[in-house]
Amino acid sequence: MLDLRTAYLAPEPPDAIELRAFTHGLMPRTVPAMMQRFVADWQRHGVDAWNRVPNHWGPDPDAPVGWWTLPVYLGDHFIAPLLGAPPGTCVMQPNVHWTLQCLLSAPEPFAAGAEVILTDDAFPSVRHSVQQWASLVGLRPRTVPAGPDGFVDRKAVLAAIGPETALVVLSHVGFTTGELLPEAFLRAVADRVHRHGGLLVVDGYHATGSYPVRVDAIGADVYVGGLLKEASGSSGNAFVYLRPGLRLKPRLTGWFGEADPFAFAPTPRPHPDVRRRFLGGTTAVAPLYHAVEGVRVLLAAGLDAVRADSLAKTDRAIACLEAAGLRLRSPREAERRSAMIVLEVPAADRLCAVLKQQHIYTDSRQGRYLRLAPFVWNSPDEVERACRAISEAVATGRYLHLPADALPAPGPVT
Ligand SMILES: Cc1ncc(COP(=O)(O)O)c(C=O)c1O
Repeated sequence: MLDLRTAYLAPEPPDAIELRAFTHGLMPRTVPAMMQRFVADWQRHGVDAWNRVPNHWGPDPDAPVGWWTLPVYLGDHFIAPLLGAPPGTCVMQPNVHWTLQCLLSAPEPFAAGAEVILTDDAFPSVRHSVQQWASLVGLRPRTVPAGPDGFVDRKAVLAAIGPETALVVLSHVGFTTGELLPEAFLRAVADRVHRHGGLLVVDGYHATGSYPVRVDAIGADVYVGGLLKEASGSSGNAFVYLRPGLRLKPRLTGWFGEADPFAFAPTPRPHPDVRRRFLGGTTAVAPLYHAVEGVRVLLAAGLDAVRADSLAKTDRAIACLEAAGLRLRSPREAERRSAMIVLEVPAADRLCAVLKQQHIYTDSRQGRYLRLAPFVWNSPDEVERACRAISEAVATGRYLHLPADALPAPGPVT
């Protein structure tokens, strides 16, 4: 198994076990130095930093880069390899919400049809955006409910696609279920929606960094995601991939996406490079300094190795926790399992709080689901220790009876 712990800064205290990669990955060791470089570049180069700064990112340190070009530079050199995409297709974005709003503001996808097919595991940044634009420009959202097992009803998704379908928007990994949609299914969706002239949009936030995504094999026209989770970025580190040849003119393009921004033309003229049209106003460059430090670690280890390691660690955790009486709620088969596993256990929120007191960081949902993701920074020994602690807590049942004030209070983020 992989143990890349030394590539990351250990959380406090030193014996802590961080199992919440699905919320925010550990900080890569190189992040503080990158942030120092931002400060130094700003101080030394001032306005000229927009044109050129030393290339701290690589892979070719002599390749020119400045704050103006950084969103596409990182897109080409780090996001594209992460997604198996060619250069020229990816650009950094502030968040998925912005990308969806921008995409939905483009008239081209809706020339023939107005239907947007979603599943009920769509993240609010997707789901709410579609609803907001629906009333504005007359889209028709159609949500395909989950099947009786709580997972995406794949047959129903395929059956829903027709001549009126403009977009099908699917989560590569369900954020509540941990279900990974297999490549062959996504390909079948892409083929069907393309036959009707529509587009496949994939929200890959929870697949990014833990799974070797292949956008061409999926047939995705648009693939959005962020680096906050397994890829250990932070806020402002989202991205979009746009299939080569996709012609879109988002109405939300800002002046950073203008063909000739410093002409300050009275009317908008979109940049010839379509991905640049997904830029709005002035890019927040500070978060881009550390954006790809985690990606660098994962690409060096190899995404196939990262995926194999994640499966081995979740295999181990599932075996141990099922033996302790917890019930697996996320998919078991490797081809549908993501980095996150979800287990059903009574009073999962209390169990999670008790584990936190022991510096074992998991999370809970709806008081009955415990979520964890042993990842590359967790040693096999940490996985064993965490599983043992959970098994012991469940065996004694003491956590069920602790008074509420004996447990750490949860914050607004869970
Ligand atoms: C599936 C999915 N999409 C998107 C996001 C984040 O969206 P945004 O970048 O708009 O905050 C998350 C965050 O957890 C997510 O789970």
